[in-house]
Amino acid sequence: MSKDSTIRIAPSLLAADFARLGEEITLVESAGADLLHVDVMDGHFAPNLSIGVPIVKSVARCTELPLDVHLMITDPAKYAPAFAEAGAGIITFHIETTDDPKSLVEQIRALGVKVGVSLNPGTPADALDPVITDVDMVLVMTVWPGFGGQSFIRDCVEKIREIAGRLRPEQWLEVDGGINAETAREVAAAGADTLVAGNAIFRADDPPAALAAIRRAALEGSSSGTLESKL
Ligand code: DX5
Ligand code: ZN
Repeated sequence: MSKDSTIRIAPSLLAADFARLGEEITLVESAGADLLHVDVMDGHFAPNLSIGVPIVKSVARCTELPLDVHLMITDPAKYAPAFAEAGAGIITFHIETTDDPKSLVEQIRALGVKVGVSLNPGTPADALDPVITDVDMVLVMTVWPGFGGQSFIRDCVEKIREIAGRLRPEQWLEVDGGINAETAREVAAAGADTLVAGNAIFRADDPPAALAAIRRAALEGSSSGTLESKL
């Protein structure tokens, strides 16, 4: 196993109450969130519309947390500069959107942000081959892009394990979609170290407790995964 046992939790703002966004952010920030996950959709790559540049700009002003901007859009090269300017810390594009991922990674990195690459549940791990050594983060989707609150697709766990085995320790492996305390344990055991959770945190009765439970389960999963890989 190439990964250490750090776990980062990234609450997904898509599940927050947008009328109280500042309060929702303060709540998860004081509960120990490590990043804020921001889902950007264009109604084309993903069948929904969500958060755009003005919201990212306002969010950046009200938090110290790095903004983990997940571009589920057909033309990431066109919009990445505006999101970097708005305060993104990490910009993730989808491998399915480009024929030249290497130059896209360079273009995004030149904006002064970290670069992530994501893949849909139906995309095999080897699609990442051209850039897997160049990115700061790989984001494995465990639901199809578009909506929060979907069920975790368990078939993706093997792909997480495969990618985890190919990353250097300093490269992050993020998982997004249907993460709760139970699935957090499974994906962390497979090698994920950065977990996005929307509904399981913001729609919980007690979001700080839900965040803590996800982290605890992931830490347990991660140490069991490390143990397994040593056996
Ligand atoms: C789905 C988004 C996810 C979503 C996760 O297209 O990329 O980030 O917000 O939501 P939950 O955790 O509710 O599945
Ligand atoms: Zn996302």
